[in-house]
Amino acid sequence: MAFLKFSASFFLLFLLFSLFSVISRGDNDDDDSASMAKLASALQPLPQNWSTNSSSSYCQWLGVKCDSSMHVLQINLNAKNLYGSLPSEFPPLPSLHVHHISMNKLTGSLPSLTKLPLLKKLYLNKNKFKTIPPGFFQGLTGNLQVLNLGDNPFLGTWMIPLEFSKFRNLTAFSAYSSNLEGSIPDIFGSLGALTNLRLHLNNLTGSLPPSFSKSKIKYLNLRMQKVGLTGTIDVLSNMTCLSRVRLQYNRLTGSIPDLSNCETLETLDLQYNNFIGVFPWPLISHPSLKVISVNKNRLQGRCPSITVTKYVSLFANN
Ligand SMILES: *[C@@H]1O[C@H](CO)[C@@H](O)[C@H](O)[C@H]1NC(C)=O
Ligand SMILES: *[C@@H]1O[C@H](CO)[C@@H](O)[C@H](O)[C@H]1NC(C)=O
Ligand SMILES: *[C@@H]1O[C@H](CO)[C@@H](O)[C@H](O)[C@H]1NC(C)=O
Ligand SMILES: *[C@@H]1O[C@H](CO)[C@@H](O)[C@H](O)[C@H]1NC(C)=O
Ligand SMILES: *[C@@H]1O[C@H](CO)[C@@H](O)[C@H](O)[C@H]1NC(C)=O
Repeated sequence: MAFLKFSASFFLLFLLFSLFSVISRGDNDDDDSASMAKLASALQPLPQNWSTNSSSSYCQWLGVKCDSSMHVLQINLNAKNLYGSLPSEFPPLPSLHVHHISMNKLTGSLPSLTKLPLLKKLYLNKNKFKTIPPGFFQGLTGNLQVLNLGDNPFLGTWMIPLEFSKFRNLTAFSAYSSNLEGSIPDIFGSLGALTNLRLHLNNLTGSLPPSFSKSKIKYLNLRMQKVGLTGTIDVLSNMTCLSRVRLQYNRLTGSIPDLSNCETLETLDLQYNNFIGVFPWPLISHPSLKVISVNKNRLQGRCPSITVTKYVSLFANN
């Protein structure tokens, strides 16, 4: 009897608790409709078939992909002529993996992205953003794989922060033409997944970081820095994954190092620097190298001219 009584009251308690949790969850908290409506109300013009009303149809909006439980996985608003600015705090989307909003005319501050814990790929390139708010990079997690901030020519000057070293899964980082200045931090020992680094057309100074030695970078583009990178490029001889290297228009110096360990190197553009010494002739017979440009340096002695068969363009040291 006592047992039955206990069971009954337990059952009642359970019912009450269930009812309470249904009420407290409300209509929208179990999906992303409120966040998507908030995002929609910040976008000008409203993308085709988006709505500022909280509605359950957001998974069918243009460029939106959801999982089976109606959580937004992907937002792709590439080249939709959007202008204005994004909300300073991006609405919470707990499952968002890919956010692609490049090739628009967005301005103002980049949004804080702390409410996007699973974000892996972020494309903000080719816009007119003006500021990177404090804490922007802290707000991104080690899940990040692709970060593209390139071609944001109106950004205020900024530097790559040391906390970048937490992006252990980052494979591609692009921030060309975005008013990046200061030196390249020596954090590449931590960025073991990075294969693609494109920071050209900025005002980076200082030398190539020693930890490039430990990286798996394939595509390295640091060409055309306003004042110019300095120091030697000796570290390249340890970068065994290199494929395309563009370092033209800097103030790099020293001799051209032995690149025989860079077995997959295809392009080496070193024009318009201050390289000295004798041109390393063994480079000509490097098996994979297709393009070498070394003109406009201070190389001494005989320099190769054009080797048509390998599409190599080599000019004298003038
Ligand atoms: C949005 O809500 C307003 C007011 O509730 C309503 O008038 C309007 O028709 C709704 N728009 C859409 C696209 O559902
Ligand atoms: C919105 O537009 C896309 C692409 O045109 C279409 O696939 C989708 O069904 C539309 N969704 C709604 C709710 O109309
Ligand atoms: C990096 O990716 C792996 C899976 O590829 C994952 O297990 C790990 O948690 C990720 N690292 C971070 C810091 O998120
Ligand atoms: C580039 O950065 C240096 C500081 O490292 C600064 O003195 C210089 O004015 C900058 N140049 C341009 C064109 O922004
Ligand atoms: C190349 O790597 C070796 C081993 O880590 C290191 O001792 C050496 O200093 C590196 N050389 C350059 C030029 O970075």
